[in-house]
Amino acid sequence: MQNIPFYQQAFVDYLNEFVQVKEPKSLYNPINYILQLGGKRLRPVLTLMTAEIFDAHYEKALNAALSIEVFHNFSLVHDDIMDDAPLRRGQETVHEKWDVNTGILSGDAMLIMAYQLFENYEPQTFQALAKLFSKTALQVCEGQQYDVDFETRDDVSIAEYLKMIEYKTAVLVGAAMEMGAIVAGASETDKANIYEFGKNLGIAFQLQDDYLDAFGNPETFGKQVGGDIIENKKTYLYLKALEFSTEEDKQQLLNLYSLKPSDQTNKIQTIKDIFETSGSSLATKQVIEEYTNKAFQILNKLQVSEDKKTVLKTFGQQLMNRNV
Ligand code: IPE
Ligand code: MN
Ligand code: MN
Repeated sequence: MQNIPFYQQAFVDYLNEFVQVKEPKSLYNPINYILQLGGKRLRPVLTLMTAEIFDAHYEKALNAALSIEVFHNFSLVHDDIMDDAPLRRGQETVHEKWDVNTGILSGDAMLIMAYQLFENYEPQTFQALAKLFSKTALQVCEGQQYDVDFETRDDVSIAEYLKMIEYKTAVLVGAAMEMGAIVAGASETDKANIYEFGKNLGIAFQLQDDYLDAFGNPETFGKQVGGDIIENKKTYLYLKALEFSTEEDKQQLLNLYSLKPSDQTNKIQTIKDIFETSGSSLATKQVIEEYTNKAFQILNKLQVSEDKKTVLKTFGQQLMNRNV
């Protein structure tokens, strides 16, 4: 096994080889732009690491890792259109830099490229990867639709929210890891367990993402801070604030989340204050830790050495404590 920066570098080198200037430039330039904007490369690194955890060389997993990253970036291009987001990784989003139609078509092409990358594997592996990918990609669409539907509903439950983030985010983290296991020819049990580990880590990751969306540092976060509040996203922070608040604050929350006022700065500050005073901010921190620990419990079931489990645990701990 290598360390995390090693896998990141190996992945980015491979990505840079993949990215080529092609015609028509108006289709491919936005693709290259979003792929080279940087980011944590969390999912592909997990694919490479998982391959090595199950005793394959990481190089075997590079195409699967790239497929996951291309799909993830496709979903971000379309998500930024849907969320009307101006910033991604500290830079302009694709639909802002070009336009919405460019974002739609470049995104579509990326989804196809993601599938195409599986052609680098032998038929049996190809089929297993494509099958997992299709199931996962459909769930991501379902999660994205729930997210949008929840914007205009005022009766979203915690259980519904958790299902939504499991689908829009966590299943892809699970799949990223399972793909590493597939490429390495891991056992059925190990494949199922590593998927569950990734999924729970992915839930913790999205909860943390929602927390940082409100409380992240605008200088370093890379996305518009308060974007979820502007879009009336029914996050864990919001749902717990509703549950814990005084009647007066509750009415204010419900009212502010039924509008898109012109004074966003005021709305964001009022909401963040309620998140803090109601205790919802603290509850969110706690649930992030719960899901991370749930992931760690699953590690016990893996049939791999203790030091490999420690690598995964360290990775999980770093994710929980991130601020970007
Ligand atoms: C994005 O969810 C999920 C997908 C792209 C499938 P969010 O909308 O919550 O993520 P950010 O905050 O824009 O990264
Ligand atoms: Mn979204
Ligand atoms: Mn978004």
